[in-house]
Amino acid sequence: MPFRIVSGDITKLRVDAIVNAANSSLLGGGGVDGAIHRAAGPRLLEECRTLNGCRTGEAKVTLGYDLPAKFVIHTVGPIWQGGHCGEEELLRSAYRNSLLLAREKHCESVAFPMISAGVYGYPKDQALEVAVSTIRAFLDEEENDMEVLLVIFDRGSFRFDVHLYSEISGYLRNTYDEEKERGSFFGDVAKSVAFGGVSGSRCSLFSRSKSTFSANCESAVREDIDEEAAAAAPNDLRKALENLDESFSQALLRMIDSKGMKDSECYKKANIDRKLFSKIRSDINYRPSKQTVLAFAVALELDLPETEAFLRKAGFALSHSNKADVIVEYFIRNKNYDMYRINEALFAFDQNLLGA
Ligand code: APR
Repeated sequence: MPFRIVSGDITKLRVDAIVNAANSSLLGGGGVDGAIHRAAGPRLLEECRTLNGCRTGEAKVTLGYDLPAKFVIHTVGPIWQGGHCGEEELLRSAYRNSLLLAREKHCESVAFPMISAGVYGYPKDQALEVAVSTIRAFLDEEENDMEVLLVIFDRGSFRFDVHLYSEISGYLRNTYDEEKERGSFFGDVAKSVAFGGVSGSRCSLFSRSKSTFSANCESAVREDIDEEAAAAAPNDLRKALENLDESFSQALLRMIDSKGMKDSECYKKANIDRKLFSKIRSDINYRPSKQTVLAFAVALELDLPETEAFLRKAGFALSHSNKADVIVEYFIRNKNYDMYRINEALFAFDQNLLGA
């Protein structure tokens, strides 16, 4: 999954590089800077001493030493001074220069804390927007095939759009059937994994256990399907989707063509990594996860009946007893196909993200 928001402690992550929100001296400090230096051991400071500091918005790299990560990319975010002293530009540079340095070191995975959102006082909602939009712009560039994680250490520093949060909460109140989820096996699997005292969506980089539910269980949870709506919206895409001879991957490839999209444009928009897309493309009988099908439905901007027909191709169904399904349904009904926004919402409601 090219972009992932996770909860936890960045010093525990098994990635190629973690990014340190440092100060210009690069000689350590509090917050995530202090945590990284404590976990990496004294050799990190020894190497930092040779770097002669770092200017705000720039980035420098050292080894990770006792950390699970191979490298530490030290960057300096701006101190918030009200927003009229170029803070946004400097924060974007801090993320972008760190990503460019990670690419230079051939990193396949890099994890960021929320730079400047702590001691440096950057408003957390704006810090999140700058982080996500800068990472997204980097990953949208054809040549950038990296896994980027944004690590949320304490839920208080994740400030999702308050208006959108309350809209989705209202939609959940009217649609989501908690009772049914409590009783359904599938509902248990959708629960987040808690680690390090901060719960968050399952991330294999932290947790070793992987859920073993099979796609068949999900197709057994076939509630609240709006079949009438699916049948009632006659259009050639829907009729084609109902063509049972066609597999999921055949339907996907044909829809990419019929939408006039490039493969790379579609899988990047779906938050699906290139290797997985190649697997789907080469295996006519590929069995995707439900998150993968929904991610492509969003990337292809399918409406709700088309999405349900597409899910049925892979043996799944949207269910009103699954909170993540109802949240995705909210975005599709409102024709909001912004995958990063959808994943921020899923994270805010402690659900697994879309993509793979
Ligand atoms: N893992 C992930 N994120 C963390 C961790 C951790 N172990 N510890 C703290 N954070 C988060 C904070 O919750 C915050 O959201 O990192 C984000 C950045 O907070 P700070 O560490 O305070 O960094 P910043 O706001 O950029 O201020 C930098 O603080 O620590 C000093 O030396 C540093 O002077 C520099 C200043």
